[in-house]
Amino acid sequence: MKLKYFSHSAFQVTANSGIKILIDPFLDHNPTSPVKSDDVDADYIILTHGHSDHIGDAFKIAKRCNSTFICVNELANYCAAKGFKAHNMHIGGSWKFEFGRVKFTIAHHGSMTDDNYYAGEPAGVLLFIDDKIIYHTGDTGLFYDMKLIGEMNRIDYMLLPIGDNFTMGIDDAVKAVELASPEVAVPIHYNTFPMINQDPEEFKSKVEKAGKQARIMSFGEEIVI
Ligand code: NI
Ligand code: MN
Repeated sequence: MKLKYFSHSAFQVTANSGIKILIDPFLDHNPTSPVKSDDVDADYIILTHGHSDHIGDAFKIAKRCNSTFICVNELANYCAAKGFKAHNMHIGGSWKFEFGRVKFTIAHHGSMTDDNYYAGEPAGVLLFIDDKIIYHTGDTGLFYDMKLIGEMNRIDYMLLPIGDNFTMGIDDAVKAVELASPEVAVPIHYNTFPMINQDPEEFKSKVEKAGKQARIMSFGEEIVI
C-alpha cells in the first residue's frame, strides 16, 4: 500500500487494490499542507474525532467523491445527517471493509464539533491493509494501554502526535513508542500553528536513543509500505 502524509494528522492510504482512504483531511485551511482538497480523492474517509482540524475538508471531498465515512457512532451520525454515507463503529470494535479491517481504539482528548455537536468519544484507529498494520493514534495524551495495543498488534507504522499543548509532546510521544513498539514511528500534529511548534528531529533522535526507529515524513511525501 501507499501512505501519503499531507501534514498535521492528514493522510491518504492507497491500498494495493487502488482503494483510497483519507484520514482527517484538514487541507484547505491547513497552512502546512502542500495540496488542496480538490486535489485528493477518497473512497472512504476516516475521522478520528470532531475537531475542525480533523474534519477539515471531509464534507467537500465526500460530496465530490461520493465517499463513505468511517467513524465512531456519534460522529458517523453527524456525517449521515448531512446526507453522507457513513459506517458507524465504536471503540474496541472492528469491521472488515473491502480494503481491509478497521478497528477503533481509545484516545484521551475531546470531540465537540465547531457547531457544538457532541461527536462521541475521540478515537485512534488501527488499519489492517495489505498485511500491514498502521496505528493512527488520533489526538491523544499518553496512555498505558498503548502497550496492550502493541502487544496484540504487530504495528508497522505508528502515526502519533508530538505537538504538545493539545496532545502528547515529544517526551510523552517517545514513551508511547516504547509502549506500543511499532516498527516505525512517524511524528504528526506539529508545526501547523505556533502553539504546536516542535522539532521532529528531536523526537527522532530520542526515539532512536530508546532503541526504536522513527521516520519524519515531509509534508506531501508518499511512501510505499
Ligand atoms: Ni483535536
Ligand atoms: Mn487536532
